[in-house]
Parts: sequence; C-alpha cells; structure tokens
Amino acid sequence: MFDAALAADERIEPRDWMPDAYRASLVRQIAQHAHSEIIGMQPEANWITRAPSLRRKAILMAKVQDEAGHGLYLYSAAETLGTGREELLDKLHSGRQKYSSIFNYPTLTWADVGAIGWLVDGAAITNQVPLCRCSYGPYARAMVRICKEESFHQRQGYELLQTLSRGTEAQHAMAQDAVDRWWWPSLMMFGPPDDESAHSAQSMAWKIKRHSNDELRQRFVDICVPQAASLGLTLPDPDLRWNEERGHHDFGAIDWSEFHEVLRGNGPCNEERISRRKQAHEEGTWVREAAAAYARKHSDSLGEAGA
Ligand code: 3HC
Repeated sequence: MFDAALAADERIEPRDWMPDAYRASLVRQIAQHAHSEIIGMQPEANWITRAPSLRRKAILMAKVQDEAGHGLYLYSAAETLGTGREELLDKLHSGRQKYSSIFNYPTLTWADVGAIGWLVDGAAITNQVPLCRCSYGPYARAMVRICKEESFHQRQGYELLQTLSRGTEAQHAMAQDAVDRWWWPSLMMFGPPDDESAHSAQSMAWKIKRHSNDELRQRFVDICVPQAASLGLTLPDPDLRWNEERGHHDFGAIDWSEFHEVLRGNGPCNEERISRRKQAHEEGTWVREAAAAYARKHSDSLGEAGA
C-alpha cells in the first residue's frame, strides 16, 4: 500500500501504515526545520528595537512572528508522527537535534535584516517549494502556507537592500558588506554536496526530498545573480559566471570545513543561540502551565456540557 501510494504520487497521511524509518526520517527533518524557524527569530529580533523607521519595525515584527508560527506549524506536523514538542525541544536544547547552520551567524548591521530576507528566506523558498509536493501530507500542507509567508519575507528583504543600495555611499557599502557575509553561508543551507549527503538517496526514494541538495543550490544561484545585478550589489564570488553549455552559472568552491565547524557547534553564535533559547523556554514555563491548566478546566466543562 505504502509503495503503491508513493508510486502514484499520493500523500501518506498520519493514520496510514508507514515504515518506521520513513517516520523517523520525517521526524528528524521536520523537527530540525521547526528548530531552525524558532532559532531563526533571534538574529533578526536583535534589530526590532533599532529598526530605522516605524514601517520597518512593523515589517520586521511581522516577519519574526511569522517564523514563530512556522515553528508551531512544523512542531504540529511532527506531532502527527507521534513525537511531542517537549521531546523535540529537549533534543534541541541538549544538542541532540540540529537547526540550520545559517542562524549561527551574527546580524552586525541593519542591512543584515535585508540580506537575511533576500538570501536566507530566498534560499528557504527554493528549498521549501518542492517540499509542498512531499509525500507526507501534513508536512506538504504546512509548506503551502509557509511558502506564501516566505515570499513576503524575501520581498521585504530585497526591498530593504534596494533602498540601502540606492541610498548614500555609506548605505550602499553597508548593504554590500551584509551580502558579502551572508552569501556563502546561504549556499550551505541546501546541505552538503550530493556525494556527501547521508539522507538524500533514501529521502528522494520516499519522495520527501524532490530535488538534490546541489540541484536546489544551483537553482538558487541562478535566481540570485540577476537579482544582485538589479540591486546594484555584487556577489562575493570571483568564479561566478554564466556557462552557456550548462545553461547555469558556474560558481566557486564552498568552504565545507566552515560548514562542518558550524555544525560541530563552533560557529560565531552557536552558544548564544542555544542559551537564549533555553532561557526563553524557562521563562515561558508559566505560559505552558497556564495553557495546560486552562485546557484541563476547559475540557472538564466541555465534558459536563457533553454529559
Ligand atoms: N545546517 C544544519 N544541518 C544541516 C544543514 C545545515 N545547513 N544541511 C544539512 N544538515 C544536516 C542534515 O540535517 C543531516 O544531519 P542529521 O542526519 O543529523 O539530520 C546532515 O547534515 C546530512 O545532510 P543531508 O543532506 O543528508 O540531510 P537532508 O537530506 O535532511 O537534507 C536539508 C538537508 C536540505 C536541510 C533537508 O533536511 C531539508 O530540506 N530540510 C527542510 C528545510 C530546512 O530545514 N531548512 C532550514 C532552514 S529553515 C529557514 O530558513 C526558515 C526561514 O524562515 C528563514
């Protein structure tokens, strides 16, 4: 049944039989996706109190709140596979589960908010649109809503950079500096090269991953080159050039040692991100307890009404 459903490009739903390994790989990926969303709130939140205008502040607050909502959606998708949020957050806090390497870099200037929107959310869209066709129903459906919001995230970042790039010399330089720092880490978001990807072959056989890491990375580079030109900004890669034969842009070598260092916990902000996350979890205990007490009381009264 499971194989026939996959072959027919049908969705696997929570109550369908599925191989334990399929379930485990989905929990792994969805959990880390959710962790990335909530950790990803930190770099940008750093600028909410220092946004240069009320309009920019409102946009940034909306975006950071969206990321929290994406995390909620994805933890809920993981719960349909039988794994509760508490367990996943515990694994995040204890380093037994990851979040995207990209969020271990600092946001040094206001232009970083634009570079994150344009590049990080842009990469997320390139990676997440195919996930709307993922074989597991709840994950694919969560992606449809998330991708719509990511488009707003990418657009506001692009427009922010455009404003700076067309501003004073100092503003243009700030935008260029941010793009220089966020370009290569954004390419690492797509995962290791295909020949080093532990999960890709099986993930593609299960129609979870629909395109390989390198394919989506190439797609993202091809999208960004003309956008950088229209922004009046350059991408920090001297080997970047159009290859007529391939019909794609050739680009320089990615520093995978940096990628592995960040995954080992040695990125610029790994410590700070996890300690801030744990602190927020601690401080939110009363909210969880209050919500649980309300749910118990509410369900009792619901029970009486039902009786
Ligand atoms: N950062 C951290 N870990 C990474 C990574 C990265 N950039 N790229 C790969 N990895 C990890 C994988 O999780 C896997 O480790 P694990 O076995 O402990 O899970 C290992 O490196 C090997 O990588 P694979 O390519 O074999 O793993 P996958 O097949 O899972 O592919 C992936 C990696 C492409 C990131 C895939 O998991 C995926 O598409 N995930 C869903 C999307 C996602 O999580 N995006 C992260 C950013 S979310 C975001 O940007 C939010 C936006 O609002 C800003």
